[in-house]
Amino acid sequence: MNLNWHKGIRQLHRWTAVVFTLTVVVTFVALAQEDPIVWISYTPLPPLFVLLFSGLFLFAVPYAAKWRRRRNASVAG
Ligand code: HEM
Repeated sequence: MNLNWHKGIRQLHRWTAVVFTLTVVVTFVALAQEDPIVWISYTPLPPLFVLLFSGLFLFAVPYAAKWRRRRNASVAG
C-alpha cells in the first residue's frame, strides 16, 4: 500500500465525514417536524459505512508500515 493510496483514502474519509455530518443535521430537522419524515433518518448510514471501512484502513496504516519495515530489515540483514 503506497503513500498515494493512503492519501486518497484519507481524503475520502475527510470528505465523507463532512457529508455524514450534514445528513445528521438534516435528520434532526426532518424528525423535528410535526409529521416526521422518517426515511431521511436512514441517509447517514451509507456515509457511516464508508467512514467505518476507510477509518479501519487508516487505523491499520501505521501498523502495516511497521510490519513491512521489520520484514524488509530481516530480508536485508
Ligand atoms: C466509523 C468508524 C470510524 C473509524 C474506525 C475512524 C478511524 C479514523 C482513523 C484511524 C483516522 C486517522 C487518525 C490518524 O491520523 O492517525 C481518522 C481520521 C479522521 N476521522 Fe475517522 N473514523 C471513523 C468515523 C469517523 C466519523 C463518524 C467522522 C466524522 C463525522 C470521522 C472524521 C475523521 C476526520 C475528519 C479525520 C481526519 C482526516 C484527515 O486527516 O484529513 N471519522 N478516523
